[in-house]
Order: sequence, then structure tokens, then C-alpha cells
Amino acid sequence: MPKKQKLQSPVGMSDILPEDQKYFKKIYEIAERIADFYGFLKIDTPIVEDEEVFDKGTGISTDIVRKEMFSFRTKGGDVLALRPEGTPGIARAYIEHGMHSWPQPIKLWYFGPFFRYEHPQAGRYRQFWQLGFEVLGEAGPVIDAQIIQIFYNILKDLKLKDMSVELNSIGDNQCKPYYRKLLTNYLKSRESSLCPECRKRIKENVLRFLDCKEEKCQPIKTEAPQILEHLCDECKAHFKTVLEFLDEIEIPYQLNPYLVRGLDYYTKTVFEISSSIEKEGEGEKKRMELGGGGRYDKLIKTLGGRDTPAFGGAMGVERIIMFMKRQEIEIEETKEVSVFLAQIGDLAKRKCLKLLDQFRKAKISVGESFGKDSLKAQMNRADKLGVRFTLILGQKEALDGTVIIRDMKNGKQEIVKLEKAVQEVREMLKK
Ligand code: HAM
Repeated sequence: MPKKQKLQSPVGMSDILPEDQKYFKKIYEIAERIADFYGFLKIDTPIVEDEEVFDKGTGISTDIVRKEMFSFRTKGGDVLALRPEGTPGIARAYIEHGMHSWPQPIKLWYFGPFFRYEHPQAGRYRQFWQLGFEVLGEAGPVIDAQIIQIFYNILKDLKLKDMSVELNSIGDNQCKPYYRKLLTNYLKSRESSLCPECRKRIKENVLRFLDCKEEKCQPIKTEAPQILEHLCDECKAHFKTVLEFLDEIEIPYQLNPYLVRGLDYYTKTVFEISSSIEKEGEGEKKRMELGGGGRYDKLIKTLGGRDTPAFGGAMGVERIIMFMKRQEIEIEETKEVSVFLAQIGDLAKRKCLKLLDQFRKAKISVGESFGKDSLKAQMNRADKLGVRFTLILGQKEALDGTVIIRDMKNGKQEIVKLEKAVQEVREMLKK
């Protein structure tokens, strides 16, 4: 019989161990605080959707849909997909719940797991978490700038350094088709010098040529026509105003004419926020994208809704954590334990269980090691937690209905009635 392999988590999907939960918690708390401030409401969509939501939304010719989706047929015959990104699901929910009839714009945020069948490497996983912000029903450029500001502020509040914002405009239905044609013609005349993937892109998704990383394509890229020079008046004015807003709120940015992003629904402004990271063991720095997004004025209509302008973005939580760790950003543990409950013997243990619950009701944080019998081990734990008082319930105290309160600062002890213990401690903590 073949040797049984050890069971492991699926490739590219990891456990979030307790030691990493504090990062998730911190990022969530900061995102939530900023969301509340700017009036965003939380939404959770299912982690699976009809595959069609992504085929039509993200785009059938994108890598995400063509190569990276976890799709499956249910027992009832529906074809579903684990969500590779959040925006099409949010647009589907906007249509399904008739949100167009609510006061506009609808400002939503989310925080949850996403799935892409990618080749796993540092910062690229098959299950990863994103936090995202979406504004639906608002056409004005102020929203573009505000979302970029929100992302920038979340990263700043997390104390991340060395961030850069890159921006581009990829036009709308008026100017994008013309630019596409221009680029297609340009590339067709140089087809034999392109990498095989870009030769395919000419037919399927020509704008993706602009973010090709193959060396072969770089000189052709430098000479290629640039979209910013071919925007229609409306897109030009929109983009100019976004830049003016960003200048006003002092968000540093760089224009990147090659930024097109890998999803089909974008119109007008697109952005990415990145930071630099040292390649493991190589000492060389490279930039890694922490988040990105843009305007998607046609997505809701594409999915069957009304013409609804929208703008949004998402950031990768694991990537933020990776940067926080590399930049040695400490997270203060806010949970302060004030009291430790130590016990010796079965009767004391039983009484302590009840006492613990009384402290919970009194909202006083308490540490314990009920699994340990040795007083020394329990006192060591109390020391580690840095508590102000340790309550010791030995066999004698358990019989007498008393408890010893030890002040951990000066070692002074006093004996109080068990039923008064919570009240006594509360008074002592106030001093
Ligand atoms: P995205 O650029 O595909 O955009 O993903 C956003 C962020 O998710 C990336 O910048 C990256 O940090 C993280 N990410 C993506 N794939 C992975 C992966 N395999 N492993 C780890 N992290 C990853 C979107 O998803 C759009 N829905 C953003 C958006 C919202 N546009 C408009 N609204």
C-alpha cells in the first residue's frame, strides 16, 4: 500500500495562526474606523457567485477568469465560482436589492477571503484576504480622489512607509475603442517582435500589452501611442480634476501610462498603491502592489442593471501584513489583564470557576491557568501577564470562604471574604 501522506492545507492556502490574528484585527479596526468616518456601510456577499457574474463582470478574456477561477458544478447543476475579487458581486448585489432607489451614492466596504488559482509565491496565494471600498451611483471625480485618499490613509495609519500611488486614465466608451484600434494597428505592424502572449493579446485584450513585463516587448512599449494623449474631452477633464484634488489633499502620485490593470470593467481613472520590498535572499528591492482599483462606470449595466457610474478599490491583507513585518511595525496589544486567579486543590478550582464568571460580569479582565496545579507555575504566568493583583485561593481559603489578594507591585497581601472579592478588587484598581 502506498505510504499515506500527511494531511495539509491546500496549496496556496494557509491557516491564519493566533500569532497573526493581531495583524488582521489591527487592519480590520483601522479600515472600520475610516469606513465609519467616511460613511461607508459594511457588506458581505457570498464567497461563491454564479460563474457568469465574473465572466461578464471581471471579463472572460482576463487571466483571472480564464486561468484562475475555482469553478464547480453543484449537485443541482448550477455553475458557481469561488469569488476571485469583490467588485462584480457587489454590483450584482446593488442590482438585486434595487439599491438604485436608495439615496445615492451607495458607499460600501468589505473585508473577506478571495480565491485565485495562481502559482503561489511570496505575496501571491490561492486564498487571500482583501479589504475593499466601493462607491456606486456617483460620477464625479471627487470620489476617485477620496477612495485613493482612504487607501493611502489606511496604510499610513498602519505606519507603513515608502508607499507610492500610480495613476492613469484608460478612457471611456468614447475614446477607449479608438485608442484600442490605434494600439492594435501599431502592434500588428510589429507582431513578429512581440512575445507569444502579446501576440494573443492583440486579438483578445490589447490594452494588457501595456503591462507586459517581457523584455522583448519593452522597446515596443516605449514607442507605443499613449492613452493619455488620446482621451476624449470628458475623460481628459475628469482626470485633470482628479489630479487637482489629489494635489489639494497632498497625496503624492506618479502618472503611469502603462497602468491598465488586469480586469475588464475599468473606465477613466485607474490606480495602484505599492511599496518596495527586498526579494527574499537576493538583497535586491522590487515594488509590490498592495492595492488597486479604479472607475467602473459600465459594470452595473453590463450585469443587467441601469447605467450607474462607480469607483472602488481593494487591498491585499496578507501583503499589508508582509510589509508590516518587513518594516518591523509593532502592534501594541491593547488587552490588559488586571487580575490573575490562582488556585490550589479541587474545591478552590471549583470556586475559582464561579469567581471568574463574576469578574466577567463586572467587566474586569482576568487571567488564569486552571490547568496548572503548581502555585509557582501560576505565579509565573501572573508575572508574565503583568497583572496588578493576584487572587490566591488555597484549600484553607476555599473552606473558610475567603481569598488572598496579593498586590503584585509591593507583595502585600490581604484576606477578604470570597463574596466581596470582586468589589474589593474593583476599588483597589481605582487607586
Ligand atoms: P486586484 O488588483 O486584482 O483588484 O486585487 C487587489 C489587491 O488584492 C492586490 O493589489 C493585491 O494586494 C491583492 N491580491 C490580488 N491577488 C492576490 C493573491 N493571489 N494573493 C495575495 N493577494 C492578492 C481587485 O480585486 C479589484 N476588485 C479592485 C477593485 C475594487 N476595483 C474596483 N473596485
